[in-house]
Amino acid sequence: MIQRPIARISGLGVAVPSGIRTNADWEAALDTSDQWIVERTGIRERRWAGPEDTVASLSKTAADLALEQAGIGPMDLGGIILGTATPDRLLPSTACDLQALLGAENAAAFDIAAACPGWLYSLTVAEGLIAAGQAEHILVVGAEKLSTITDETDRSTAILFGDGAGATVISAYRNEANGGILSTFIRSDGRLASLLYRPGGGSTRPFSQEVLDDRSHFMKMAGREVFKAAVRAMTQACDEAIQRAGVAAEDIDLMVPHQANIRIIEATAKHTGMPMDKVMVNIDRFGNTSAASIPLAFDQAINEGRLERGMLILLVTFGAGFTWGSSVVRW
Ligand code: UT7
Repeated sequence: MIQRPIARISGLGVAVPSGIRTNADWEAALDTSDQWIVERTGIRERRWAGPEDTVASLSKTAADLALEQAGIGPMDLGGIILGTATPDRLLPSTACDLQALLGAENAAAFDIAAACPGWLYSLTVAEGLIAAGQAEHILVVGAEKLSTITDETDRSTAILFGDGAGATVISAYRNEANGGILSTFIRSDGRLASLLYRPGGGSTRPFSQEVLDDRSHFMKMAGREVFKAAVRAMTQACDEAIQRAGVAAEDIDLMVPHQANIRIIEATAKHTGMPMDKVMVNIDRFGNTSAASIPLAFDQAINEGRLERGMLILLVTFGAGFTWGSSVVRW
């Protein structure tokens, strides 16, 4: 009998720009306060890329670490899937630029446009490719340079976002004892696209002086509506991933949620029945890094010694589209 391979996270690495933007920096630039930002979002500082940092260069640094941890080289990769809302160029994909930087000529490389869930969507695609026997190792990256699409004059969005990259190697295993991805769940609702979007710069409104003048190349967000939808969708996603994995909420050892707002995280954890001491939070250090958010939090959980082999991890995310998703992983 042919046994379907099990996909497992075999390596993880992250990279963030050295530049830091604190709440005090935003206080100096906008009509806001450290107190408002901390109370309403949980954010204290975020990483801010300089011109030397590109999505591909941050991804390369993260990928080198992930490959080393997985014990493989770039030529062992059968795929490179990169979730991003801020590709370095509109054509070709940033995944292809990353492929060239890595020297991974055996891989098929492509981007996934799923906003904040970009890494989790990419993980889901990679898992499917591995289960179908298409590749033994796939690099799954979530990387963003949100500072380039953030309107620094809009206090309702500017203070939220930051830059960074997280890379994971997803590998095929044939022995369940090694753990692996037990379930994945992804969904979208495009009817709600205009609650979080970039109106200008695409092919309906290509770049022009007008686009620049009305600042429509920056992100626009109806924060309160997005907040409510995020809690609703992330709660549903947690239930789905747990059910699909055939485990119970009480069995989950650690939840690693997308870091958009501490209040969204707390509300989702409460609905799912997860005590906050089982929830990974690092929004204070990085803000919302979109597709990089879960790998950055995952990496910190490992570095803090919060993960042991065999533990059950619940990943959950939400973003523009709307898009959302979740996964249960046995570490
Ligand atoms: O990555 C996934 C997508 N993104 C998200 O999930 C983000 C979801 N949304 C949120 O996190 C929250 O809605 C925000 C943090 C964006 C806003 O928090 P809120 O509690 O929903 O505030 P609000 O938009 O209802 O605004 C409350 C007040 C308003 O003033 P008035 O009208 O009550 O006088 C805003 O003008 O807070 C004001 N405000 C600010 N005040 C100080 C908005 N932004 C700021 C600010 N500093 N930066």
